[in-house]
Amino acid sequence: MKLRHLIEPTDFSITELEELFKLADLIIKNPLEYSFKCKGKILVTLFYEPSTRTRFSFEAAMLRLGGSVLGFSDPNSSSTTKGETLTDTIRIVSGYSDIVVIRHPVEGGPKAASLFSNVPIINAGDGGHQHPTQTLTDLYTIRAKFGRLDHLKIGICGDLKYGRTTHSLVNAMSRYPGNEFVFISPEELCMPENIKKALASDNKPGYHECRTIEEAISELDILYMTRIQRERFTDLNEYDRVKDSCILDTEKMKLAGENMIVLHPLPRVNEIHHDVDNDKRACYFLQAENGMYVRMALLMLLLDRTGSFYQNMASETAGFVISTEESEECTNPKCITKIEPPLKQRIKLYSDGRKICDYCGTHIESCCTYEE
Ligand code: CP
Repeated sequence: MKLRHLIEPTDFSITELEELFKLADLIIKNPLEYSFKCKGKILVTLFYEPSTRTRFSFEAAMLRLGGSVLGFSDPNSSSTTKGETLTDTIRIVSGYSDIVVIRHPVEGGPKAASLFSNVPIINAGDGGHQHPTQTLTDLYTIRAKFGRLDHLKIGICGDLKYGRTTHSLVNAMSRYPGNEFVFISPEELCMPENIKKALASDNKPGYHECRTIEEAISELDILYMTRIQRERFTDLNEYDRVKDSCILDTEKMKLAGENMIVLHPLPRVNEIHHDVDNDKRACYFLQAENGMYVRMALLMLLLDRTGSFYQNMASETAGFVISTEESEECTNPKCITKIEPPLKQRIKLYSDGRKICDYCGTHIESCCTYEE
């Protein structure tokens, strides 16, 4: 049987997302009713990078569903230190468990894992690429606050270059009609070109860019703040130059509408003053709490192989073919194919000439198209 994985937020249709959110609503209303839904199931958590919210909320989610948890939060305690590859690790742990959550510093790591796994894989963040379960949490909180996920103006502020939560949020929210984005960042940390290009294409919402919170805050429904990702900088002098560029404080909150909400995937460093926490529009702690319920719903749906997420699976390869030819190579030095060379290249070839790495989402210069 074909497995469902969650590698990117767009792996689930809008209908499936709504089903997941409705299940999370029910769990919040009556958590005890779900206490045994995953009895006998084992979740493995492989965290190759630090985490508080994602790991603990997944573990709490599985325990609250009556299942069990195995895993590591420090890869130095695993055979990774002896040189074991990620894909070999996955072959092993997927034989011990029913579902695996993986956070990895290398872009495309979870996608590679999904190709070698006997059980569903959930991407808990891969380098600067994607963080789809954070996006489920973000969307759930937005839906709870506004009653909808469309026709919203979303300011995304901070490290848009390396911030994987921002990439996943744009991918997800751009599927709903009428949403508009304002990208607020220093020039060095602006949103990657491929994400902006995708937004500018037909039937997609628009965006504009600015450098300060003050320029945009009064027009926003949502201000999504993010941390400058120190760990992704190769030059720490550059980090020092940009680290204080966008800071939200109570003075700037005075410029915002009374119904605007502030979200943040957390952890924060100094980009939101602690005084803002007392403002009723600050929703980032609620957002983190929602994460556990959304992950409970996600575990239930991915583990239920007779349920709707398996019955109505869409084709994964609609609109493209996958080339595994050596001549087609991902150009991203941070792609998993560069770290685990035995992995075959997987380049998605679209009929309009686009070529996109199936692991890390890098857009590769196109030179040809395929015939349908
Ligand atoms: N938002 C988030 O991913 O937090 P952690 O890094 O603590 O998991």
